[in-house]
Amino acid sequence: MEKQEQPVIELQDAVVTFKRNQESITALDHVSLTIEQGEIYGIIGYSGAGKSTLIRVINHLQVPTSGKVIVNGQALEELDSHQFQKARKKIGMIFQHFNLMNSRTVLNNVEFPLLGEKLSKAERREKALGLLKLVELEELAGAFPDQLSGGQKQRVAIARALANNPDILVSDEATSALDPKTTLSILKLLQRLNQQLGLTIVLITHEIQVIQTICHRVAVMEAGEIIEQGKVAEVFMRPKKQLTREFIDTSINVQEALKRIRQSNSQDLYVLKFIGDTTNQAVVTEMAQKFQVAANILFANVDQFDNLTVGVMILNLSGEVSAGVDYLRQQGVDVEVIKKEVRS
Ligand SMILES: Nc1ncnc2c1ncn2[C@@H]1O[C@H](COP(=O)(O)OP(=O)(O)OP(=O)(O)O)[C@@H](O)[C@H]1O
Ligand SMILES: [Mg+2]
Repeated sequence: MEKQEQPVIELQDAVVTFKRNQESITALDHVSLTIEQGEIYGIIGYSGAGKSTLIRVINHLQVPTSGKVIVNGQALEELDSHQFQKARKKIGMIFQHFNLMNSRTVLNNVEFPLLGEKLSKAERREKALGLLKLVELEELAGAFPDQLSGGQKQRVAIARALANNPDILVSDEATSALDPKTTLSILKLLQRLNQQLGLTIVLITHEIQVIQTICHRVAVMEAGEIIEQGKVAEVFMRPKKQLTREFIDTSINVQEALKRIRQSNSQDLYVLKFIGDTTNQAVVTEMAQKFQVAANILFANVDQFDNLTVGVMILNLSGEVSAGVDYLRQQGVDVEVIKKEVRS
């Protein structure tokens, strides 16, 4: 019973340092995290933040300089080489550039990880065809990777990653080479696999939309550290760190909107953020009526984060503004005031 309650992945104070010439680089700087069974856990950060290193540590491809990595209750360093190989197989991996073998058919690519298993040729084939069906690609079994689109290639890579029935799938920028529509279809596939197979997914990306579309929790990485983590909607709604704000603002386009509004509007601006099922329009209308405040909506955007609605509005207010703002805050609305520009 106890086994079910322990996290599927646990990092305790993991450090990875590399030597490059005379320099020592800290790619992971005392990272601790836990990922639960069945979660889709997203890690976001700019280039060089240490995302791939983190995922390689989880995947046992990179031995940490210090700290502990526990996957499925087993500490990596306590495994003998046989157990280590076995544990590795329970973690599937997909990459930005798919890493398929071009000289083999789609079917053979998916069969490849099964070659070392005690399966007959027919069993292997059946298993691989089943996996291709799962990713909706069975009709392309005989094609070669070069004949496929990027999205189709990634589906093959996903089928191959699932060949050994992994508990965990790690994804290193798996959608970064794809257009937005294909990205969405791959994300929906990952979401279905998560729900259908109970697969735990650890996904790294530099695109906030990826996190927003399918992740349950998110960690923000900067310079080898996790600077912030939590449920997606909570982190997005109340980011504590500047970097997190930057990612979110690019998603909701708030900074862009503010800049645009500033060009023609020199009054105080009020940035309102709503979370959950508050119908933002109604609260603003109520406030305007109750307090004789005139509200002019300059920008509004509503977004969905892991089933939570997050709305943003930028307003000009006049009248009994401070009472109105107090009221909004009492209603659970996050209000930020951006003072008018003083022209010198
Ligand atoms: N094998 C290595 N030897 C030396 N330095 C390395 C090695 N691998 C990674 N690094 C360094 O560690 C840091 C983190 O790299 P990492 O690849 O984890 O970043 P990342 O967040 O995945 O970046 P990107 O988004 O560009 O893929 C970088 O400064 C990188 O140059
Ligand atoms: Mg990387």
